Amino acid sequence: MNKKIGLGTWSWGNKFFWDYQQSSNVDLFETFLEALNQGFSFIDTADSYGTGKLSGNSEKLIGEFLKNTPYSQKKKIKIATKLAPYPWRIGRKGLSIPFKKSFDRLDNQLDIVQLHWSAAKYNPWQDYQLLTNLCDLIDEGYQFEIGLSNIGPSRLQKIINFLAEKEKKISCVQVQYSLLSPDIEKQNIVKRICSQNKIDFLGYSPLSFGILCKDPAIKDKNKKSFLRNLIFQIYDQPSLELRLAMKEISNYRSASLAQVAINWCFYKGVIPIVGLRKKSQVLDICSSFNWNLSREEFDILENASKNCSKRLPGNPFSSV
Ligand SMILES: NC(=O)c1ccc[n+]([C@@H]2O[C@H](COP(=O)([O-])OP(=O)(O)OC[C@H]3O[C@@H](n4cnc5c(N)ncnc54)[C@H](OP(=O)(O)O)[C@@H]3O)[C@@H](O)[C@H]2O)c1
Repeated sequence: MNKKIGLGTWSWGNKFFWDYQQSSNVDLFETFLEALNQGFSFIDTADSYGTGKLSGNSEKLIGEFLKNTPYSQKKKIKIATKLAPYPWRIGRKGLSIPFKKSFDRLDNQLDIVQLHWSAAKYNPWQDYQLLTNLCDLIDEGYQFEIGLSNIGPSRLQKIINFLAEKEKKISCVQVQYSLLSPDIEKQNIVKRICSQNKIDFLGYSPLSFGILCKDPAIKDKNKKSFLRNLIFQIYDQPSLELRLAMKEISNYRSASLAQVAINWCFYKGVIPIVGLRKKSQVLDICSSFNWNLSREEFDILENASKNCSKRLPGNPFSSV
């Protein structure tokens, strides 16, 4: 089993959902360095990460951290951002300025540029215009791979064909993928198309925002943002049977619940993008490399997942 993993940085500047505090930047730098040490494949960010005055904060922090990292170290990891196809970013130059701003914030290391979601629901042509824009930037001399996110099977196939005519290809696709995520059948079709076209299939929120790490025997301490506390409360009961099944496996394996969730992703052939903000979390997640789920354990998790009475909400812009 080829186990690759990406470091997710949505929380690195998000106050509303993740209760980001500037005082945590030291922890974030340690997280970043440990991810590099442990051989993470890529770091995932987005130009929309960072709320209010903290707009772009996740990219800015990564750029600062890259500045303070030796060249030999930082070249081991790919930096991937996502550019938002807002309705006003239209035409063949709609992403040129946002791309250059992200490139600057990331200290000129930008290896993968992904469309954050499909614009199909509000402008059927916009995805194609913006992808042409990315192809133009590559033809101008910028070196990066093209990726997609929150895309459905039908649009993905159309985009693969569209780019093939320009002798370009998609290198990765990311969708929500966890034991609690919605639309798993649709995501599996996307995964199959990716595998047929040698595209990396990345699963975001593999820990369901941390809900899957909540020990069923321990009462939650409520130390999170209002929104995150609320979502933890809402999913407490619907995820209980699943977390009990995970707990049994984690006890048997002397592993954490997080490792069980990540090893389920590996078993499915998914490259998880894990949201992390502490060095200890990087080390814990990396212990997933040391063991594999058995077929029986996988089946138990699949059944428990199917029986969950409530799934997480999906991205409203995900296309068909
Ligand atoms: N393309 C998209 O539209 C999209 C959407 C969402 C996310 N993403 C990407 O995917 C990444 C990951 O998703 P996510 O951040 O939503 O959530 P996630 O990976 O499902 O959960 C992350 C949270 O789980 C907790 N956690 C992590 N490791 C743990 C461990 N070893 N033990 C216990 N708890 C642990 C942490 O909570 P605490 O920090 O509170 O401890 C962490 O912030 C994002 O950062 C982003 O890069 C992309």
